[in-house]
Amino acid sequence: MEATGYAVFGAPLKRFRRAAALTQEELAARAGYSAVYVSMLERGQRLPHPATVELLADVLDVSPHDRELLRNAARRDGTAVPADLAGTAASQLLVGRAHELSAIEQHLVGRAPPVLALAGEPGIGKSRLLQEAAGYGASFGWQVLRGGCQRRGGQEPYAPLPGTLGRYAHGQEPERLRAALRGCAWLARLLPELADLLEPLPAWTIPPEQERRLVVDAVIRFLGAIAGPAGTLLVLDDLQWASPDALDLLTALAHAAPVVPIRVIGAYRDTDVRPGDPLADTLTDLAHAGLVTRLAPAPLADRDAARLFDHLVTDAPPALRARLLARAQGIPFYLVSCAQAVRAGAMTTDTDGTGDTNDAVALAMLPWDVAQSVRPRRRARCSMWRRWWGDKPRAPCSLPRLAVRMMNCSRRWMSPTACVSWRKRGTTTVSCTT
Ligand SMILES: Nc1ncnc2c1ncn2[C@@H]1O[C@H](COP(=O)(O)OP(=O)(O)OP(=O)(O)O)[C@@H](O)[C@H]1O
Ligand SMILES: [Mg+2]
Repeated sequence: MEATGYAVFGAPLKRFRRAAALTQEELAARAGYSAVYVSMLERGQRLPHPATVELLADVLDVSPHDRELLRNAARRDGTAVPADLAGTAASQLLVGRAHELSAIEQHLVGRAPPVLALAGEPGIGKSRLLQEAAGYGASFGWQVLRGGCQRRGGQEPYAPLPGTLGRYAHGQEPERLRAALRGCAWLARLLPELADLLEPLPAWTIPPEQERRLVVDAVIRFLGAIAGPAGTLLVLDDLQWASPDALDLLTALAHAAPVVPIRVIGAYRDTDVRPGDPLADTLTDLAHAGLVTRLAPAPLADRDAARLFDHLVTDAPPALRARLLARAQGIPFYLVSCAQAVRAGAMTTDTDGTGDTNDAVALAMLPWDVAQSVRPRRRARCSMWRRWWGDKPRAPCSLPRLAVRMMNCSRRWMSPTACVSWRKRGTTTVSCTT
């Protein structure tokens, strides 16, 4: 990408970094970005996302006046990040994830295959990374379209594409939209509500396979027509619930990517995808064609987990803080949930009166909405467990010490209850009750 007016941000950033006596590498490490990215910001080759501006200002510990200066400098460039993306990202802290952000950056500058698949267990932080990726994408000049699948939305043809394209279309001026829809008549199969703006479909019927091909062509043409300077970026969440025809469509988009500037960043729960599932087959095919990179975010490092927890709760008793951090095992969702519960006064140092915070008791004491959210995640983790060990251990049972030691290598897959009893007895009771 050419250097542009983005330099208006790069110059003060460089000045403040030097004033803080930091190298680009040091600033990057502290902010959780790659040194390449910081260098690009300073050279005016990248426009930072609003959340990035806040983070850099925090790390550089600039005065309120200088923070405002940075914010304005980022804004003055005119390549505004869409409000819905900017607002949500800016309000949240992102800890760690330097490796993942660097991979996203590589993806956006075209040094990687056209599809980036974020895979991981529930709560590991996939959606949060997608949010960041969307912000990055917008600042890198991509037209970003965001969407996600619903657990029971897979029945809708091509879900989640109709919702994703529909949301974009509804935010556009009719004339601009009409121009972008030229030659895309078959898009009516996805978005019947746009029929008035589309050319009429032929009156005769055609075989379903041909119709699917025409729909795919129309989507590709439309995404090409609405592209930003860099192209069109689809950011799609929860692909484990995507419909099979949507996955075929994504495959077609990936194959079209060398000709039409389209990129896809998708996230899915790998705990919910078994061999032979449509998504597993799609990813295998894309991998064979060299069209996908898989990125599996790890649990947060201890330092980052503590930073997130302390950002959310400032006055947790040290013993409770230590215990919750240990129990969360770097899974952001657990950290956030526990922090909410502590803030609501639902968790104390000794919730079950025995000196240890029993998991079931702790769950019972969580606010109702948090508990509702924890339960399916714990169930998904247990389903991973069952896949490894079969259905037999579903009822409580003891496992040999050696087996438990082996499992300890992947303790993040064990239910917290199992971990606690393992630690106490050297054998564990495997319980998948949720
Ligand atoms: N690196 C991070 N820094 C700060 N907060 C984070 C980070 N990663 C995730 N979170 C927060 O943790 C919570 C869970 O993350 P997220 O929703 O992204 O998980 P997920 O992997 O998408 O889960 P699911 O599979 O259930 O959709 C969210 O509140 C999110 O904002
Ligand atoms: Mg998610």
